[in-house]
Amino acid sequence: MKVLVVGGGGREHALVWKVLRSPQVDEVIAAPGNAGIGEVARCAEVKAEDIEGLLRLAQDEKVDLTIVGPEAPLALGIVDRFQGAGLRIFGPTEEAAKIESSKVFAKELMAKYGIPTAEFQVFDNPQKAREYIRKMGAPIVVKADGLAAGKGSIVCGTLEEAYRAVERIMEEREFGDAGDLVVVEECLVGEEASILAITDGEAIKPLLPSQDHKPVYDGDKGPNTGGMGAYAPAPVVTGEVAEVVMKRVLRPAIEGMAKEGILYRGVLYAGLMITEEGPRVLEFNCRFGDPESQAVLPLLEGDLVEILEAAVEGRLREVEVRNSDGAAVCVVLASGGYPGKYEKGKVIEGLEEVETMSDVVVFHAGTARRDGEIVTDGGRVLGVTAVAPDIPKAIERAYEAVGKVRFEGMHYRRDIGQKALRHLGER
Ligand code: AMP
Ligand code: GLY
Repeated sequence: MKVLVVGGGGREHALVWKVLRSPQVDEVIAAPGNAGIGEVARCAEVKAEDIEGLLRLAQDEKVDLTIVGPEAPLALGIVDRFQGAGLRIFGPTEEAAKIESSKVFAKELMAKYGIPTAEFQVFDNPQKAREYIRKMGAPIVVKADGLAAGKGSIVCGTLEEAYRAVERIMEEREFGDAGDLVVVEECLVGEEASILAITDGEAIKPLLPSQDHKPVYDGDKGPNTGGMGAYAPAPVVTGEVAEVVMKRVLRPAIEGMAKEGILYRGVLYAGLMITEEGPRVLEFNCRFGDPESQAVLPLLEGDLVEILEAAVEGRLREVEVRNSDGAAVCVVLASGGYPGKYEKGKVIEGLEEVETMSDVVVFHAGTARRDGEIVTDGGRVLGVTAVAPDIPKAIERAYEAVGKVRFEGMHYRRDIGQKALRHLGER
């Protein structure tokens, strides 16, 4: 069969890599893909937000299954459009994707169905938002309702920062219409974790719990990024926590959506804060996480395409989702200056050397091919992933591989996975 993967980041490279391991798959096309994906699959020059272009591509190429990576096409209704044209596609409909594309929708769903999350209020008026902030005090979190490329949630240590966040979102309209409404919520304390579950609207099959590293510098210092690395399984998610998440988060979310008349099919990603009182939802996403997928997918055993097809067809309960006993660590290599301004077009060296290492795979994010060389083409450039029997060995192997890669301005965190070691040490 022929599979189309929509997107062109590290998550999509990991999806392509895993899909290619399916015995059913003859060909993978990625749109738009990147230089690394281009080495193993065919890249089509169609942007991930170009829904009509993607539909034409899938029809012309007689694609059997489309897998959507990023949130933007899901929020634009790519799944509704493909289904309407009789094509098979894995992901939630536009209405179901609101669980990510509207924080107000997600918070109201959580409140209605008793899903543990931070206390909150929704505002359409900046003055009222400020009054509430004054009453609640700092620290406090201000979030734009709509999609804001991961930058719409502002954790504020002081009242001034929170007023400023309201001003930026609602008055300066930094995120456009995404700032028509804001959510102001309680600041939670704990360790974060991500649980990605595949669902057909009834059965819910979680992948291994993982942990992202959002701030740019070691020790969680500096501004937030799209994610500087990830590992799985995350020991902060003990068996007990995982059970609570299934019972109090994933199940009520899927069943709550169903009660609202919305069939949720695709990945439901719960971004969690594991607090002293147990897990609380920070956000829901309607897709695979990035970089989490780069750690989680290499640990998934068996045929991903079989699982996703079963989800699309509403028979997920028939398939087993098995994970390996090992661990994976993904270290993101970023361009100099990221997450601020950075230059592109720097030649990347050392990739061939890493290719010879067993149990290591380099997923490309912002890369391009220029005159036969691979060059940087984005903020997050590569995700170097190692799989090993345990987290300490995976960390060692991932950094051994990172040591072989070079490009001008390259920077990365040196502490990916350290939080896991603290937990492992406690046991
Ligand atoms: P979100 O876009 O909602 O996932 O938020 C992005 C990041 O902001 C999260 O990964 C957390 O690090 C932080 N964050 C969001 N909401 C809260 C909260 N209520 N308390 C503490 N930190 C938060
Ligand atoms: N790792 C954060 C995200 O995928 O949104």
